[in-house]
Amino acid sequence: EGSPIKDHFGRSLKDLRISVIDKCNFRCTYCMPKEIFGKDHVFLSESELLSFDEIVRLAKTFAKLGVEKIRITGGEPLMRRNLDELIAQLTVIPGIKDIALTTNAVFLPKTAAKLKAAGLKRVNISLDAIEDEVFKQINGKGVVARPVLKGIEAAQEAGLEVKINMVAKKGMNESQVLPMARYFKGTNVILRYIEFMDVGNHNGWDLNNVITKKQIIDMIDKEMPLEPAEENYYGEVASRYRYKDGGGEIGVISSVSDSFCGTCTRIRLSADGKLYTCLFASSGFDIREKIRGELTDEQLEEEVTSLWGNRKDRYSEERSEQKNNNRKKIEMSYIGG
Ligand code: GTP
Ligand code: 5AD
Ligand code: SF4
Ligand code: SF4
Repeated sequence: EGSPIKDHFGRSLKDLRISVIDKCNFRCTYCMPKEIFGKDHVFLSESELLSFDEIVRLAKTFAKLGVEKIRITGGEPLMRRNLDELIAQLTVIPGIKDIALTTNAVFLPKTAAKLKAAGLKRVNISLDAIEDEVFKQINGKGVVARPVLKGIEAAQEAGLEVKINMVAKKGMNESQVLPMARYFKGTNVILRYIEFMDVGNHNGWDLNNVITKKQIIDMIDKEMPLEPAEENYYGEVASRYRYKDGGGEIGVISSVSDSFCGTCTRIRLSADGKLYTCLFASSGFDIREKIRGELTDEQLEEEVTSLWGNRKDRYSEERSEQKNNNRKKIEMSYIGG
C-alpha cells in the first residue's frame, strides 16, 4: 500500500484520469471541430465502454500501486448515465484522497446535488468566454454563457469547489482574457488559463496561436496586480498567482511555454479501456482485453507496474526541444485532457 511505482525517469504514479465517454454536447473548435465530429462520426458503442465494475476494479488496482487522486473526464462525462453511481464506488476506495470532475457544466443543474452526495468534492468547469457572441462561436453549438454560469451556480450551491478552465487562443478569445479575470476576481471560483496545446490531429494547432503564460500574466497584472503563489501539491499543473489586493487567485497551465513533464505523475484510462502514459501518446495499452479475459488481480498489478516502469513520455518537453515529428496523436475528446 502507498509505495508508488516509478517510471524510467523516476516519476511516481499518483493520478488516474478516467474518461467515461467520448461524446460531448459541445463542438469546441479546438477540440471537436464540427467539420470532423459531424453526423457521420462513429463514437464508441455501449459494449466498447468499460462498465462501472470494470472501472472500479482498475481504480482499486491503481490505488494499491500508489494512486491517490482520480479525475473523471470525457468527452463530456455527465453524458454517461448514472455517473454518480460510479463516483460513489470510487470515493470509498482505500487510498483515494481526492476525486474531481472536468465538465462543461451544462448538465450540472440537474446533477450537482447527486454528485456531491456520491462523494464528489470538486469540479473543473470549462468556459472560454464570458461574452455570448464569442462563446457561441467557440462551442460550435451557439450556446451562450448563461447555461454554464447556471452550472457553476448549481455546483456551488451543492457545496462543490469550483475552478474554471479557459483555453486561451489567439484569433479565438484573446478579447476575453481580461473580462474573464474581472468576472471571477473576488469570487471563490479560481480561474485558470490554459495555453492552447497541440493535442489530437484536427485542432489546427500553430505555435503562433498560443498566448503564453507570460503574455497572460502581463496583461492581467497591468490592470489587476499579481504576485506568484506556491503550488498546492507536488506536480500541480497550474502555476498560481494571487491578486495583491486580496481578490483571490488565478492559475496558468503552460504546457507549451513552460512544460511540466518532469513532475508528471499522471496515467490516463480511455472510455474503451486503453491506458495512456501521456496526453500526446499515439497508442494505448489495451487493458480491457486483459480484464475481460482471465486476468487475476495480481497479474493486473504486474501489467500496470511494467507499463509504468517502461514509461519514457515527456512530449511537451520534447516539443520545446523541437524533437516532435508529425506522428498521429490521440484526440482530446477521447482522452479528456
Ligand atoms: P487540478 O486537480 O484541479 O489541479 O486539475 P488539473 O489541472 O490536473 O485537471 P484539468 O482536467 O482541469 O485540466 C486542466 C488542463 O490541464 C487541461 O487542458 C488538461 O489537458 C491539462 N493537463 C492536465 N494534465 C496534463 C498533463 O499531464 N500534461 C499536459 N500537457 N496537460 C495536462
Ligand atoms: N489545448 C488546451 N486545452 C484544451 N482543452 C481541450 N482541448 C485543448 C487544447 N487543444 C481543455 C478543455 C478542458 C480541459 C480538459 O482541456 O477546454 O477545459
Ligand atoms: Fe466538449 Fe470539452 Fe471538447 Fe469542448 S473542450 S468539445 S466541452 S470535451
Ligand atoms: Fe505528462 Fe505527457 Fe503532459 Fe508531459 S506531455 S506532462 S509527460 S502527459
